Amino acid sequence: MSESTEPILEANALYHIYDSKAEDGNVIALRGLHVKVKPGEAVAVVGPSGSGKSTLLKCLGGLMKPSSGIVSLDGSNMTRLTGKELVELRQRTVSFIFQEGNLLPDLSALDNVAQPLRHQKVPYREAKRRAQELLDELGMGHRSEGLPSMLSGGEQQRVAIARALITNPRLILADEPTGALDPITSREVLALFKQLHETKGVAFLMVTHSAEVAAFCDRSLELRDGRFIAQHGADFEVTDLAESRELIVDDIGTMVLSPDLLLEMGGAGRYEVEEVGDGRLVLVSTEENESLLVGGKTLAPSCPACLHTYTDEDTQLCPECGSSRPMVQA
Ligand SMILES: Nc1ncnc2c1ncn2[C@@H]1O[C@H](COP(=O)(O)OP(=O)(O)OP(=O)(O)O)[C@@H](O)[C@H]1O
Ligand SMILES: [Mg+2]
Repeated sequence: MSESTEPILEANALYHIYDSKAEDGNVIALRGLHVKVKPGEAVAVVGPSGSGKSTLLKCLGGLMKPSSGIVSLDGSNMTRLTGKELVELRQRTVSFIFQEGNLLPDLSALDNVAQPLRHQKVPYREAKRRAQELLDELGMGHRSEGLPSMLSGGEQQRVAIARALITNPRLILADEPTGALDPITSREVLALFKQLHETKGVAFLMVTHSAEVAAFCDRSLELRDGRFIAQHGADFEVTDLAESRELIVDDIGTMVLSPDLLLEMGGAGRYEVEEVGDGRLVLVSTEENESLLVGGKTLAPSCPACLHTYTDEDTQLCPECGSSRPMVQA
């Protein structure tokens, strides 16, 4: 396979379980995920609060070891690497941008940007020169001596982007990179991403709640309770995912229905395959199945997390806190 077609990032059957001593037991944050990102592709990850987005990003970037599954970065299986090899692979391939807290508080903007090069043993003068050049390019050259606490949120995020770019990564993993920014700054940051994507062919995997960020991406994957349930094309509403959902059937045949779709279909139970083939699958609920169907279950009237009362019958995500709306016995 030529280098250009090999995915820059690939994960297979990724599971992550957080151990917990609490009564509720362990949390299964990721449930057998598959994902592939091609070089130069921009992919968004959308989904409600707690669906596993940050956990996924940390596992994909090698910041956290998944409980099981394989993650390959630029063709190398990360689970097989020693600690030192993993650090080297990460350093030359991938950079992270988080919502906030990307910078070391005691270092100037310039030193923050130069630091990843220092880890690669680039001499200090050379690292500083390249950092200054990049800050100039991002319109932050005049603030290079400032400490992070002296910079605005937007300025800090620009420095964070410079820090992420200084190593010429082929992939940027970003967790709500514009989440803490005002709309104007967030648009500027996005324009910068667009430029990198288009001129340098940098691949992105970005967690976002923002319609604009999602629209910048080539496709969006919808994460729900630790599984990718659907993909959305470039043009879609983050607030109404039902409109543009393309369900995903993975290569072991698993498919997950969102609560609203399940409800519309008739609920949990047994279904006969009435028609299959030519890209079609028609399911019909079995007659004697009535008792098994959800019958009597509806979407919850209020959010269990923040107690917001839903005004709309079909809303799936809490407008206050972003949690999934569960189904309850009517
Ligand atoms: N360190 C941890 N220990 C135990 N459980 C955790 C830990 N971090 C996350 N979780 C749980 O794992 C699940 C997924 O969390 P994660 O932070 O990945 O969600 P998220 O989609 O990023 O949410 P948000 O949109 O709120 O950032 C949640 O149920 C969360 O409570
Ligand atoms: Mg998160």
